[in-house]
Amino acid sequence: MNIKSLYIHTIGCQMNVYDAEKMAAGLLALNYLPVASAEEADLILLNTCAIREKAEQKVFSYLGRLASLKNRKPHLIVAVGGCVAQQEGRRILERVPHVDLVFGTHAIGRLPALVGKIQRDRCRLVDVTMAEGFQEAASCRPQIFGGVSRFVTIMQGCDNYCTYCVVPYVRGREASRQPEQIIAEIEALVASGVREVTLLGQNVNSYGLKERLCSFSDLLARVDAVRGLARIRFTTSHPKDLSEHLIQAFGRLTKLCNHIHLPVQSGSDRVLKKMNRRYTRADYLEKVRRLREVRPDIAITSDFIAGFPGETAADFDATLDLIRQADFDGVFAFMYSDRPVAPAARFADKLPEAEKKRRLQTLLAVQDLYTVRKNQALIGTVQRILVDGASKKLGEAPLDDSPHAPQWVGRTTTNKIVHFSTADAAPGLAPVEPGMLIAVRIENAFAHSLRGRPLECQTPCTGVEGENSHAA
Ligand code: SAH
Ligand code: SF4
Ligand code: F3S
Repeated sequence: MNIKSLYIHTIGCQMNVYDAEKMAAGLLALNYLPVASAEEADLILLNTCAIREKAEQKVFSYLGRLASLKNRKPHLIVAVGGCVAQQEGRRILERVPHVDLVFGTHAIGRLPALVGKIQRDRCRLVDVTMAEGFQEAASCRPQIFGGVSRFVTIMQGCDNYCTYCVVPYVRGREASRQPEQIIAEIEALVASGVREVTLLGQNVNSYGLKERLCSFSDLLARVDAVRGLARIRFTTSHPKDLSEHLIQAFGRLTKLCNHIHLPVQSGSDRVLKKMNRRYTRADYLEKVRRLREVRPDIAITSDFIAGFPGETAADFDATLDLIRQADFDGVFAFMYSDRPVAPAARFADKLPEAEKKRRLQTLLAVQDLYTVRKNQALIGTVQRILVDGASKKLGEAPLDDSPHAPQWVGRTTTNKIVHFSTADAAPGLAPVEPGMLIAVRIENAFAHSLRGRPLECQTPCTGVEGENSHAA
């Protein structure tokens, strides 16, 4: 058997991370095995993102750097997939002579056939055909990728057409995956040792509506019943579709983590309207209130766009005020970036780059006060963390005692990163392994992580019962 090497470089969101696994799983049929560096590869896949101009620029600078490698290794195949591939199609082949294949977001299932044809004929190909319905690709092959926590896509595409956003154009119409396929994939992952899944969709709250499958909260209940699974997360939730039924699921489902990512984008009703978000600031804050009523200790995170076209100083103040009222655990914020295909690119009153940057920095500085305060409030508490694996770095804390002791990293149910060392452990701690749920007392809090000391080892989790103490 002639084994070949595959290197995948992924830019973009969790969906691209998931898609990369599907690409690699499909290419196993052609004897491609993943390797850790581009230099050793026979096939390089660049998995791209078009969400902001910067992400798109990264694609062409990465491709530029591959030119000399391709000169040295003429048999090397260079393929470009993902959202920029879908958006630009043939233009990538014209612009970059050493690219052999451009395949779009709906062509992942056809990737092995496309690569097979290039191997045989040494031709250059483009496949950016889109189709209706959920596009299934190769099965997930959990044993190859391993890990404790994995993504599972439950929906593709988006029908919301927020005026700034490229996603509906590059991922196509919203389509939900059959619940049986989702459950089968999760069961296979759990059988290979996975303990946590994050269900992915651009707007998981509208799962199944179009196809008349089950509702998202019913799907969550089915995932909750998978034996051996310990934790469930999901992303992203569109505030307009966050139903009371789903909010109540947080009070019911034992494996559903204490965290929701609920992107608000702006605190100004005028801007939300121009963004076509279809909720108001008051609607949003009411949903936050209900979530906290049902799960008082739920962590809530959000996304913001700073400097949307026409955003006035008063609009921006309304955003800062919403941040203060919502009391988020953390936020992601981005400077508005024109996407030529999206309507906002043609809106009047664009803000200068310097002003967008100033607003972004102000927003992040205001949120940091809340993030740090929330993290500091955890000092002295005991948190159950799911151990992800050995920590590559020591976290944000200087280690004064045992710099050579094994360092571990895990997450709380609220999705906060916790570093700990087994040298700090209580006597009698069983050997730590990825996938364990262990109790850790938090001793230090930083801007982006916590540091703790393990108390005692839990029995390796069976997943028969979840962690949510509010659930009935
Ligand atoms: N489906 C998700 C968002 C996916 S894109 C949702 O509706 O929340 C992730 C984030 O990128 C968005 O929440 C938004 O904050 C940001 N984003 C999208 N388009 C952008 C643009 N043109 N400029 C700047 N940020 C953008
Ligand atoms: Fe983009 Fe809006 Fe769809 Fe999210 S909901 S992917 S922001 S169009
Ligand atoms: Fe980027 Fe495509 Fe995801 S544009 S954010 S990789 S859906």
